[in-house]
Amino acid sequence: MRKNIVAGNWKMNTTLPEGIALAKAVNEALKNVDAKCDVVIGVPFTHLASVNEVIDKNKLGLGAENCADHRSGAYTGEVSAPMVASTGANYVILGHSERRQYYGETSETLKEKVKLALENNLTPIFCIGEVLEQREDGSYFDVVKAQVEEALFELSAEDFSKIILAYEPVWAIGTGKTATDDQAEEMHAFIREVIEKKYGKEVADNTSILYGGSCKPSNAKALFAKPNVDGGLIGGASLDAESFMGIVTAFE
Ligand code: PGA
Repeated sequence: MRKNIVAGNWKMNTTLPEGIALAKAVNEALKNVDAKCDVVIGVPFTHLASVNEVIDKNKLGLGAENCADHRSGAYTGEVSAPMVASTGANYVILGHSERRQYYGETSETLKEKVKLALENNLTPIFCIGEVLEQREDGSYFDVVKAQVEEALFELSAEDFSKIILAYEPVWAIGTGKTATDDQAEEMHAFIREVIEKKYGKEVADNTSILYGGSCKPSNAKALFAKPNVDGGLIGGASLDAESFMGIVTAFE
């Protein structure tokens, strides 16, 4: 069966010393709980190699927040999937709405990123989600379906099975406005149906679909109790070890 996963997305936060301290604090806290989910932290590129040294990878996965859509070469400022993998990281967040919105990422570039991540044994945490206008005009199911189909549906069933999805309604990210657990469940069930139509029931049942957008200790339990919500992608609340652990333990 699919895994429950709680993944942090630190975004562009923490200096290197602050990031190491936060990673150590999460790592320490995990020693004292019997986590009922996989736990991952997504950290800035600059932190990956150092954080990799201070965490127990059997208990805490490490991810980047992006990777390039090319393998290597003259792409000043970019960081490739092989580079990310060489730090010890085993996950990469791809297609976050902030990347789509501020850095022009499209399904075409994301398709390449996903391919390169998989080639380098990085597990993509692939983000999808509608903006407020699309929620309000009712097109949100079509939008999310297209995001999944365009970037992922050329993958073989074997490769698709390696992907973690994160449904993050853009109107709920960093706004304090969480989707209700019923809204999350409705969309997650729909996404699973879309996957089932393409790859069959077994693949669909085994795909972890995380919810993201103002998830915090106070609402995580209700969200994670929904049958199609398999965990969370956590922004703001992952920047404090105690609140992050409050979400991790929502599975207990
Ligand atoms: P948030 O961010 O938890 O701060 O809303 C979630 C995300 O963007 O991944």
